[in-house]
Amino acid sequence: MVKEELKKLIADKNARIGVIGLGYVGLPLIVEFALKGYETVGFEVDEKKVGTLNAGESHIVDVPSENVRKVFDANKFHATTDFSELNGCDVIIICVPTPLRKTKDPDMSYILAAGEQIKKYARRGQLVILESTTYPGTTDEVLQPMIEEAGLKLDEDFLLAFSPERVDPGNPQFQTHNITKVVGGVGKDSTEVAAQLYAEIVGDVHAVSSARVAEACKLWENTFRASISEWRTKWQRFATR
Ligand SMILES: NC(=O)c1ccc[n+]([C@@H]2O[C@H](COP(=O)([O-])OP(=O)(O)OC[C@H]3O[C@@H](n4cnc5c(N)ncnc54)[C@H](O)[C@@H]3O)[C@@H](O)[C@H]2O)c1
Repeated sequence: MVKEELKKLIADKNARIGVIGLGYVGLPLIVEFALKGYETVGFEVDEKKVGTLNAGESHIVDVPSENVRKVFDANKFHATTDFSELNGCDVIIICVPTPLRKTKDPDMSYILAAGEQIKKYARRGQLVILESTTYPGTTDEVLQPMIEEAGLKLDEDFLLAFSPERVDPGNPQFQTHNITKVVGGVGKDSTEVAAQLYAEIVGDVHAVSSARVAEACKLWENTFRASISEWRTKWQRFATR
């Protein structure tokens, strides 16, 4: 069963982990897995970032270059623009941008591009996780059918989950390892295996009932943060009058 196979690979630190998109979210995440001893591959469309990362230099403030060098020298991390390496990954985590369009709806083109690459190189036995902020339903309505087009069946051949990135870049108190990770799978097996994976690098993992709940959770958090900052601005204006 794909669940048991992946659980063993993760527990034995033999799972090879691929991260698509090495920005503020993807780079800290992949380095954290590499520092824990997992073999990792970072997929990027920006050749310049690939070059500097493979030279041991970080472009993200929260990730010291020293850590990039350490995992690169230990053969636990390399970056690439060659997406055919996705086929060798047991876990694939998508961390691509989802900016808002002028019309305020999310630009899904980056998730779709990542999904196309996954579909192209998919094989039996992979766990795919989406971390990009998006609307509830993206994981099971958009990504699941794309992977199924490769002739694979959920639970029998692959697992699929959503886990929102909740990082606050530049905040020295809360970083990848000590921010509670919310995980929701498209099905129980996916939730279980994705939660096991994140427990390797994060102190507290909170499993929820579905990918949609995890997607909605992130939107609630962003809405809360936005309204708090709006109220803070209003209060500051009032207090300085
Ligand atoms: N930065 C944050 O504070 C933060 C916090 C929580 C959630 N998020 C969410 O996480 C997601 C990623 O955000 P980010 O801040 O890391 O973005 P980012 O722009 O810093 O990094 C994204 C990276 O993905 C690369 N990329 C784009 N398309 C690609 C593709 N098809 N294949 C491979 N790489 C590709 C880009 O070149 C870039 O390096 C977004 O959905 C964002 O909303 C961000």
